[in-house]
Amino acid sequence: MKIVIGNDHTGTEMKKAIVKYLTEQKHQIINLGTDSVTAVDYPDIGQAVGERAIQEKNSIGIVICGTGIGISIAANKVKGVRAALCNETLLAKLAREHNNANVLALGARVIANQNAIWIVEMFLNTAFDAGRHNLRVDKLNKF
Ligand code: RB5
Repeated sequence: MKIVIGNDHTGTEMKKAIVKYLTEQKHQIINLGTDSVTAVDYPDIGQAVGERAIQEKNSIGIVICGTGIGISIAANKVKGVRAALCNETLLAKLAREHNNANVLALGARVIANQNAIWIVEMFLNTAFDAGRHNLRVDKLNKF
């Protein structure tokens, strides 16, 4: 799968750990985040990842900032993005099944890198459970 990933300076180490894992799993990575710890602004990265994730067919976005909150707010401003901030695997599973989330947001100051990798794994391996959730997600898409 194609993964569009981006992070601010607080998420650089977590991003590198996730990219290593995803590369080992043979996913294709588009890295739009910083690779340094020099401060950058999370709205720019959230917007860039959101836009690219919508452009790229069959892609999933991953955004990382300190809490995951700011960058998820930014990504969610892009039309078509349904970004979900998940700090445990159950949230990742439900965000895919119920919300058809297409961008995963993570907080690098909130969870450990290994937890983030488990959350990414769950997010990528869970399908949308259309059925009764379809109508609700359609309503989101109409905003
Ligand atoms: C940067 O200091 C921090 O505010 C940012 O990473 C994020 O947590 C914002 O929501």
